Amino acid sequence: MKVYLDHAATTPADEQVLEAMKPFQLQKFGNASSLHQFGREAKEALEQSREVIAKKISAAPEEIIFTSGGSESDNLAIKGLVLKEKRGHIITSAIEHPAVLETCKFLEKNGFEVTYLPVDKEGLVSADKLSAAIKKETLLVSIMHANNEIGTVQDLAELGKVCADAGMAFHSDAVQSFTKEKINVKAQSLALASFAAHKIHGPRGVGALYVREDLKKKILKQVHGGHHESDLRAGTENVAGAVGFAKAVELMTPKAIEKMKALRDRLIDELLKIEETHLNGPREKRQCNNASISFHNIEGESILLMLDSKGIAVSTGSACSSASLEPSHVLTAIGLPHEVAHGTIRYSLGRENTIKEIDYAIESSREVVAKLREMSPLGR
Ligand SMILES: Cc1ncc(COP(=O)(O)O)c(C=O)c1O
Repeated sequence: MKVYLDHAATTPADEQVLEAMKPFQLQKFGNASSLHQFGREAKEALEQSREVIAKKISAAPEEIIFTSGGSESDNLAIKGLVLKEKRGHIITSAIEHPAVLETCKFLEKNGFEVTYLPVDKEGLVSADKLSAAIKKETLLVSIMHANNEIGTVQDLAELGKVCADAGMAFHSDAVQSFTKEKINVKAQSLALASFAAHKIHGPRGVGALYVREDLKKKILKQVHGGHHESDLRAGTENVAGAVGFAKAVELMTPKAIEKMKALRDRLIDELLKIEETHLNGPREKRQCNNASISFHNIEGESILLMLDSKGIAVSTGSACSSASLEPSHVLTAIGLPHEVAHGTIRYSLGRENTIKEIDYAIESSREVVAKLREMSPLGR
């Protein structure tokens, strides 16, 4: 049996997504900037897709900028906003995705000051700590919505209010949460938010950035060329990609989310019955498809490889490459000791997973963990 449980990395595209995209690579292939009927047809589809994405977050269609994915959206939001200033201060959290963290580190090297807010043991950012970190030089606050490793979902409304009260631009990397968690740019006081299609059974290589209308003039374009996408991102638009993204948004229904939640809970409950395990991230404020489990006294890499040999695809939370034994910055930030962080596995579900698959993953995890503990000098 083949079981894919690494949907936080990427998801298979839905057949209906591919069907919706197909005409825009074959018959309706026009360049959306062309004035002839092929161009007009493409432009219309592009604008309809923009509307679908805008509606999902209660924004206006003109506030959606299509990009190549989450990383580009994060870069455009953060660099775009602060690079117009020569100096200043950015606030982010210690558990952001590298698309945000590395962007902030780049800016740090180029004269900007960055504060990396700590998180509590469940991965939550405190509104009080955020409020205390804001100073007059602060240009931007960037706090992710759902964490890609441990599934923690931040209270964006609460954090957004702190930013709004301080008159600060608030960006959120919502690449993991988009369509799975509620996003309302007004209720959450968002100025900027990043999304990617490939995390929700859409095509790879397509993303979007929400830019609040009044900020559009304050964003420094990162890809120069033509005047596409409100003059914020040059390049012939990926119309088929945008159409596929919009279709993927429509297909992520409340029913699909409930199904993932139920399977996630079954997985968590059963895995926690294995001795010496714990769940990372909160039980309640948790993304519908994430189960991050630490198996004490064994190596996550070994679990991953043994599960792989049984046809099950998961990911290690520790993300340690062979070149570095450093555990994940997220697991370290929530206070896990290195040896526990190294025994962490992220199971992330998708819309098509079944109970049978989850039960197979549970059973296989039990077997693999027992075997590794038998072999390990640290195990029992
Ligand atoms: C939270 C988060 N932000 C940003 C990204 C980067 O997105 P992309 O791979 O589409 O560039 C990812 C992808 O894993 C992510 O999980």
